[in-house]
Amino acid sequence: MDLESLLTDRLARSFAAVAGGPVDPVVRRSRHADFQAEAALSLARRLGRPPREIAAEVVERAALADLCSSVTVSGPGFVNLTVADDLLGTLVSRMAADPRLGVPTVTAPETVVVDYSAPNVAKEMHVGHLRSTIIGDATARLLEWLGHRVVRANHLGDWGTPFGMLIAHLADLGESTAASKLSIGDLDSFYKGARAKFDADEAFRRRARERVVALQGGDEPTLRLWRLLVAESESYFLAVYDRLDVLLTRADFVGESHYNDMLGPVTDELDRLGLLVESGDAACAFPAGFPGRDGEPVPLIVRKRDGGYGYAATDLAALRYRTGELGATRLLYVVGLPQRQHFEMVYAVARQAGWLRPPARAEHVGFGLVLGPDGRKLASRAGDSVKLVELLDEAVARATALARQKNPGLGPAAVAEVGRAIGIGAVKYADLSVDRSRDYVFDWDRMLALSGNTAPYLQYAHARIRSIFRRAGRAAPEGVPVLVGEPAERALARELLDFGAVVGAVDRTLEFHRLAGHLYAVAVAFSGFFEHCPVLRAEPTVRESRLVLCDLTARVLRQGLHLLGIAAPDRM
Ligand code: ARG
Repeated sequence: MDLESLLTDRLARSFAAVAGGPVDPVVRRSRHADFQAEAALSLARRLGRPPREIAAEVVERAALADLCSSVTVSGPGFVNLTVADDLLGTLVSRMAADPRLGVPTVTAPETVVVDYSAPNVAKEMHVGHLRSTIIGDATARLLEWLGHRVVRANHLGDWGTPFGMLIAHLADLGESTAASKLSIGDLDSFYKGARAKFDADEAFRRRARERVVALQGGDEPTLRLWRLLVAESESYFLAVYDRLDVLLTRADFVGESHYNDMLGPVTDELDRLGLLVESGDAACAFPAGFPGRDGEPVPLIVRKRDGGYGYAATDLAALRYRTGELGATRLLYVVGLPQRQHFEMVYAVARQAGWLRPPARAEHVGFGLVLGPDGRKLASRAGDSVKLVELLDEAVARATALARQKNPGLGPAAVAEVGRAIGIGAVKYADLSVDRSRDYVFDWDRMLALSGNTAPYLQYAHARIRSIFRRAGRAAPEGVPVLVGEPAERALARELLDFGAVVGAVDRTLEFHRLAGHLYAVAVAFSGFFEHCPVLRAEPTVRESRLVLCDLTARVLRQGLHLLGIAAPDRM
């Protein structure tokens, strides 16, 4: 059990005795002691007694001598708790002896579908897809580590009316020309070429429409061209994933087309349930609670006027498939905040249809925009969306230069490896270390800084610890008790012991900036410790204890970064 729960447990008993019923003691981290319990403040009104008096009685009744070195009442009625040094030492020793760093796997594993990345075929991936890919990947890593069965679902945009135009363009160009145009980095111009012809040329428009019909009707020559387009795009996306070092593989592509055959049955089922309304030739659902600007309910269009199905129908089918066929109980959609209403409406309809019933639930893991230095949506100099591959290449190039300059002793292979770890790590960390619902500014200098809350700072702290062991020519001692004496040593121990609770909080909230913030606090505490507490020069028992603390710090940093999808090189 972590410290906070230990204290909460004990205090709950004495609070209950004083209040005559169950009370949450509300234990929080405190700046004045290790923790404070705040419940006396809210209890005061209920009991009609001054909060300080309640707190004093709680302190008197609570048997905390084995946990705390000091328990006092402070301020308006807080109970301040200072954890005993030897308890900190015992808990840290236990954490160090545990390969899982004190984080157990969950007792009730779930099947979780993480819908993420989801770029669109024959289009460039943009930074919104980058955010989805980074956040979704961290989500998959963390939930998997906690013991859940994670299904990575890359809901590729590979179906729908735009494919008529794309296939017609492909047929016009001839396959061999088209294949080279489609190759890495040139997806946008292919798309734009098709678009331009579509806008200008009536005959082309007709061919495009015919291709849509042919595609939906399963016409083999048309399907073959479609497959070509999808395959080229998938290879391109896989190259980006590889460079980004994310878990997504070819097997995780489950594009919109996958649900094509389910759209009819899904619509029929909604119709049978009386959930569809004909609205100007379209079939719509009107879930409650989504008024538009005029106060009238907003429709979720299930079948379009032309009889085709769109984005919403596909998401309904995908949801039904995920709870029904895959047996998922937690559905996560890592998609930008502008799509919030779309998802809320899809969930509402799915609930009405009985496809989303407790314990199954769906969550939109939304996120804000990536901004350029001008505070506007990040764009290339020409005003186009930024090409992801170029962005990642630049990150690695800048980080490689940095690595070479900081450590001239590294060989070329090591420089390349470290440069990649730092560059990609910096891009991911810049994203994951801010509250995801906020926009953030993409700033090379800030994300690559060796100080502050950045990936390079954390990676550097980790590498520095590894170098202590290299210098000492030995591994971390095992089964050695950790002694917590110096204030800086104590501060580090306390931070480290928070790791499990933070990971647990991220499991629930998917707020990765909490994990990032925790790792940063650990690295800062380590640097204070390293400054004030000699390690290799200390007398033997203290030296062994401090080596355990060093090693545990490195392991927490490495594991924490790993959960964020960031590598921690041994030297930098
Ligand atoms: N392809 C979509 C886009 O680029 C994102 C899809 C998100 N996932 C979903 N199930 N709708 O905006």
